Order: sequence, then C-alpha cells, then structure tokens
Amino acid sequence: MNVSSTPGQPPAAASVAARGPGRVNLIGEHTDYNGGLALPFAIERGVTVTATPAAGDEVVAHALDVGERDAFPLARPGRAEGWRAFVRGTVAELQAAGHSPRPVELTIDSDLPAGSGLSSSAALEAALCLALLAAAGEPEPDRHALARLCSRVENEWVGAQTGLLDQLASLLGRKGHALRIDFASGDVDPVPLELGDWRLVTLDSGASHEHASGGYNERRAECARACELLEIETLRDAPEDPDLPAPLWRRVRHVSSENRRVEEMVRALQRGDVEAVGRLLDRSHASLRDDYEASVREVEATVGRLKAAGAAGARMVGGGFGGHVLALLSPGAEPPAGALEVGPGPAARLL
Ligand code: GLA
Repeated sequence: MNVSSTPGQPPAAASVAARGPGRVNLIGEHTDYNGGLALPFAIERGVTVTATPAAGDEVVAHALDVGERDAFPLARPGRAEGWRAFVRGTVAELQAAGHSPRPVELTIDSDLPAGSGLSSSAALEAALCLALLAAAGEPEPDRHALARLCSRVENEWVGAQTGLLDQLASLLGRKGHALRIDFASGDVDPVPLELGDWRLVTLDSGASHEHASGGYNERRAECARACELLEIETLRDAPEDPDLPAPLWRRVRHVSSENRRVEEMVRALQRGDVEAVGRLLDRSHASLRDDYEASVREVEATVGRLKAAGAAGARMVGGGFGGHVLALLSPGAEPPAGALEVGPGPAARLL
C-alpha cells in the first residue's frame, strides 16, 4: 500500500479493492435454513468494491451499475432500501462485531446480474466486508464468522430471511471445487468439480426474484411450522413419512430428498459419472417444482429451452420464484443465446 501525507492534512491512504464472487448452487436448494446439505461453488463473476480512506465522518458509496450514490454518518448508518441497505448494514454489523471501519469513499461495480439467483447480494456483502476491513487496516476475521455477519446484514438490514448458503459459497469457495456444506455441523468440504468437456451454464428466466418479498419467506415459515408440529429443531431430523397437513408434508419431502440428492451428487462427482450429475439436476428441479412449489412459468419455459438445446439436466437455482436456471450441456451442445457458462472460481479476496 502506498501511503503519503502532507503536513497538516490527513494521510492520503491508497485505495483497496476487494472482489466478492457470486455463486451457483449445484444442488441442495432450500436446505441451508433447514440444517441440511448443499453443494454450491463460487463463480468468476462477482462484485468489486473499492474503498478509499476519506476525511470526515461519513461513508460515501457509489453504485456504478445503477449510477446512484449514498452518504451516511459512519457512527449512525441508519436504515435505507435497496443496495444502500447492504452498505449501511455491513458497516453497522462490522461495528457491532467490534470492528472499526473508517470513513471511506466506496465504489461498487458488478458484472453479476442483480436479482438473478446468482447471489449478487452475498457477493456485495463479502466484497464490502473485505474492503472495509482492509481500508481500516484490520486483519480479516475467520471466514465462517464473516459469513454469519454477512447473513445478519441480509436478515436484519435488507429484510430477507435467507440462510448461510450464499455467504459461505462466496467467502469459502475454492477454484475448481464445489463445497459440500453441512449446515447442521458447519462442516465445509471442497469436492473437485471436474466435468471434462461437459459445461455448466445458467440462463436468466427473465422473472426477477426478490427475497425480501417473494415466496421465499413464506417457505421458510412453512418449514418452521413443520418443525413445530413435528417437535424437532430442524428438518434434518424429520421422519421419512411425516404426519403433516398439506402442503407441509410436501415441503418436508423436498428437503429430505434434496439432502439425499446432495450426497448422491458428491458420489457421482467422485466417480466421474457426469450423466448422473444431469439426472440429479432434473430430479432436484422436479422436487422444487412439485413439492416445494418454488418454480414459476418463466422458469419452466427456461428449463424447456435448455432441454431443447440438449441439456442433460436443468434446474432452477437459488431462492426460486424467478432467477436463473442451471443446466449441464453435453459436449458439442450449443448453449441458447444469453446463456452464461459458469465454473468454480476462487473465494472473495483482496485484489
Ligand atoms: C437463496 C438464499 C439461500 C438459500 C437459497 C435456496 O439463495 O439466499 O440462503 O436458502 O435461496 O437454497
């Protein structure tokens, strides 16, 4: 870092930049907040936050892709909507966790489509944390703790009751690997993601989702209600054939069968059985559509387009009710226009 100062003026510290990747969840959807299993990976696309130490007592932030600005007192971030809630929430949660972010000017730049199911939110939170800590000259805390902090930003400042999947994927991702995450034990194990000439692509369904409003919070509430009725802590402990009213038993069946599919996916990857990977994507999608009822017409049409292009398997990813569809294309299959090839990239980092 290049730091120079002129007598009588605050030191002109250099900028720091951090990159938070988006994520694709290979399988294990709506399992994180149910103490289950998932297999996400960080992708190359993401959000870059640049922090330049500033004089005064404010944080000023510029969101370059939307051409908007925010400014707030460092000591009292206060509430706001949209992208501003992430910035203010991250500053406030860092302070609540005992860190001392400094007055800075932030620029936020993204090559991830927002609201797409590729987790632009976690990418932004991760990049903000790393940039704000580095600008304050503070060492990075444990990344599991950082993921929980980012999740509090989302839960308490943005109003989306999301789990830890996205933040762990963005902060702990490993190039060339997916992460088998056990949300009951907290264990995160890298699993090599090698598909030979087969390609993973995502395609936008055109229906954008909003976690804070959409059906996501409703599904969470249904799962919580199922736990209450079954007198268990999380759906990880749900019986095979739970005695519950509709639609709760179907929600539970999705979560339990999805946990099993994660284990099957890990085994398929370990033995290099790429066709089984495709079949598992299809089975996951059917369960999300029929049991979890998290699909929408546009998502179904997108699955259809990918299948018509020769996908060996396709499924909705992320919270659902819109967003992207993930597909496995066999060697030689042409991705439909607008598809984005995705592969496992590195975790959030300082640039
Ligand atoms: C969103 C949430 C995650 C997870 C998925 C569904 O991406 O942010 O925490 O619940 O939906 O698997």
